[in-house]
Amino acid sequence: MSSVLSTAPTGLAALPPGARQLLRDSCLIDGRWQAALDGRTFAVDDPATGATIGRVPLMGAAEADAAVAAAGRAQQLWARRTAKDRAAVLDRWAAALRERRADLAAILTLEQGKPLAEASAEIEYAASFLTFFAAEAPRITGEIIPGHRPDARIMVLRQAAGVAACITPWNFPAAMVTRKAAPALAAGCTVVLKPAEQTPLTALAVAALGELSGLPAGTLNVITGDAPAIGRVWCDHPAVRVLSFTGSTEVGKLLAERGARTVKRLSLELGGNAAFLVFADADLDAAVEGAVLSKFRHSGQTCVCTNRFLVEDSVAEEFTARFAERIATLRVGNGFHEGTDVGPLIDDDAVAKVTGHLSDAVGRGAALLAGGETEPGSRFVTPALVGGVTADMRVMTEETFGPLAAVARFGSEQEALALANNTRSGLAGYLWTRDLARSWRVSEGLEVGMVGVNTGFLSVETAPFGGVKESGLGREGSRHGIEEFLDLKYLCLGGIG
Ligand code: SIN
Repeated sequence: MSSVLSTAPTGLAALPPGARQLLRDSCLIDGRWQAALDGRTFAVDDPATGATIGRVPLMGAAEADAAVAAAGRAQQLWARRTAKDRAAVLDRWAAALRERRADLAAILTLEQGKPLAEASAEIEYAASFLTFFAAEAPRITGEIIPGHRPDARIMVLRQAAGVAACITPWNFPAAMVTRKAAPALAAGCTVVLKPAEQTPLTALAVAALGELSGLPAGTLNVITGDAPAIGRVWCDHPAVRVLSFTGSTEVGKLLAERGARTVKRLSLELGGNAAFLVFADADLDAAVEGAVLSKFRHSGQTCVCTNRFLVEDSVAEEFTARFAERIATLRVGNGFHEGTDVGPLIDDDAVAKVTGHLSDAVGRGAALLAGGETEPGSRFVTPALVGGVTADMRVMTEETFGPLAAVARFGSEQEALALANNTRSGLAGYLWTRDLARSWRVSEGLEVGMVGVNTGFLSVETAPFGGVKESGLGREGSRHGIEEFLDLKYLCLGGIG
């Protein structure tokens, strides 16, 4: 493993002029950019250096309530527009994201830390949800069901659910905004959205482009601030009909409990503990490349990142050795420096979790085979590999959410499945084999919402993203993603014929 040494500008100095124009220090409520009612703000940090790069409003319950009121007023008008009209606004928003891709990517790297190339890919990923759901809007069709009496007919309408509250995470500050807002708006819902405290600048910039693209006042409201206070208001508010959250399982459960009081529809995309199964007949070179992508993309900070590598006994040594060699080629550095593969972790807690998992594993007998170095106060951790891992270690039972790969062994397909399913999470799983029958058997046997067969990358707007077990409820992306924001209404027509 090596570090990128560069003199290219970083931090605020790395922002192009166009990106500076997109920086906001206020929030969008009812079509107006506003400060917090009491004027309070909080700092946003550059995770690469810890330096403050901006301040945004520290809003709370009152602003959360005002945002819902604005969204409620806007909703009927928005839903009454034709689907084509709503789609045209989303298409313009997608075009704006693509046009300002470099500016948005720079803001994203600045506050989030991921390498600029990954940030740029995320902006395209964000735009893809707008394009996809713009096309879905005119496909929200109903049904006619034969009557239960000769004079009756049954019709089914699919109608916008109402106001949707969306709470988005820091690991994909642009794409998770549009993965939620695009289907909601396409369906005719209006949106109140709170981005993660760590990464509000990207969400505000994306919202600014939405406003410029013709979203009417109140259709998209974005507020930053006190997460528990805002979450409580949105969970309790009767006008909020859908609560869509991406984040930890712990917070997802709290929202689900609180939302139950007003019987909210929930769309929850929560934590994972993905297993990556390598069978002896796998193409090991491809499996190693898939492993690097699946583990170290975005410094291991995605919910579909592999957490547990499970490798068949006869190839475990060879796979681990090749994986260690490949890890040694990854370059750690500031996201603005060309050639960086692995950027900083989001905050000090994230570093503590990774180093805690590493010392727990090594303390219980695992072998450290690569990386794992960090310096006091730094958010950079060099990509790490541990072998000889056992089922009781924290790297196996908890989601690490960082650049630490843990390898354990299995002896049979049955044992591999039992190990993989030995978790309360069920988001993603990966398997590597050349045996077609096994790929079906194991895919069907994995208790997850998404399976990568001979690939370490799953995310695309056309596929349903989501988990089973404690990894969540509902799906995002694909034609299924819009259903989270639609209610079925059945009409019984009598007196016909
Ligand atoms: C997530 O980590 O929440 C999303 C990951 C992805 O869409 O690839």
